[in-house]
Amino acid sequence: MAKIIGGVATTHVPSIGNAIAKGLQRDPYWAPFFGGFGAAHNWLARERPDVVVVFYNDHGLNFFLDKIPTFAVGAASEYRHADEGWGLPVSQPYPGDAELSWHLINSLVADEFDVTMCQEMLVDHAFTIPLALLWPEPDSRPVRTVPIAINTVQHPLPSPARCLKLGRSVGRAIASFDRDIKVLILGTGGLSHQLDGARAGFINKDFDLMCLDKLANDPDALARYSSLQIVEAAGSQGVELLNWIAMRGALTGEVAKVHSNYHIPISNTASALLVLSNDAEAAQTQYRKAS
Ligand SMILES: [Fe+2]
Repeated sequence: MAKIIGGVATTHVPSIGNAIAKGLQRDPYWAPFFGGFGAAHNWLARERPDVVVVFYNDHGLNFFLDKIPTFAVGAASEYRHADEGWGLPVSQPYPGDAELSWHLINSLVADEFDVTMCQEMLVDHAFTIPLALLWPEPDSRPVRTVPIAINTVQHPLPSPARCLKLGRSVGRAIASFDRDIKVLILGTGGLSHQLDGARAGFINKDFDLMCLDKLANDPDALARYSSLQIVEAAGSQGVELLNWIAMRGALTGEVAKVHSNYHIPISNTASALLVLSNDAEAAQTQYRKAS
């Protein structure tokens, strides 16, 4: 059966992609951010996931304001990137895992999540940059991918509680997938930031640190917020936290923090990294003892 090894959440601002393209990882401005990834690289080298399920939000490359699904799941054998207009280099296509995608879609619909299914899907910087951060060597991505896009752009947004439930449904579906693969869950975006309006440049460190703690130890605490309360606390783009909450929901075993890093600011954004392990067997043993 498929096994969820853990989850990672990262910031995805486009300027990171430009810093990678220009080789600025050791530049004094960027070093505190890129330096935080060493522990994640070591953990991934040990765990060696076969597939990454990525919760992210599209910024207009695949969906635009005229048509935005609340939840969309990729069901393709590969996903192409394209010129987004940020000056970002266009990445090579990412291999998909259509069999796992259809299993997830069937399970989600049976679980009353009526998702949009995408047999063609462009993926943007919210997908490409986190993968480049986790596997920095060009052409060395060791994994197949399943993109799951959450609307964090056009109101009304799904609630944090709904995103946590979506993640839990995805986690249950993966655990019932009859193939011996190791799966990593990735959530991208955030943390607090607002790019426009009177609060442009807004960062809320106290809220971010609380989120990092609750994501590891008590994700239901975040599910008690509304999306608008998250916008108020974290900024209009900080609501990308919904992707992190969905990631956490998919960790259905015993969860422990492996590593985290928090650095402000990067390009007016509170940048953060969170690595969580997921011990599915320990959770099952506890369940058997209790029942
Ligand atoms: Fe974003």
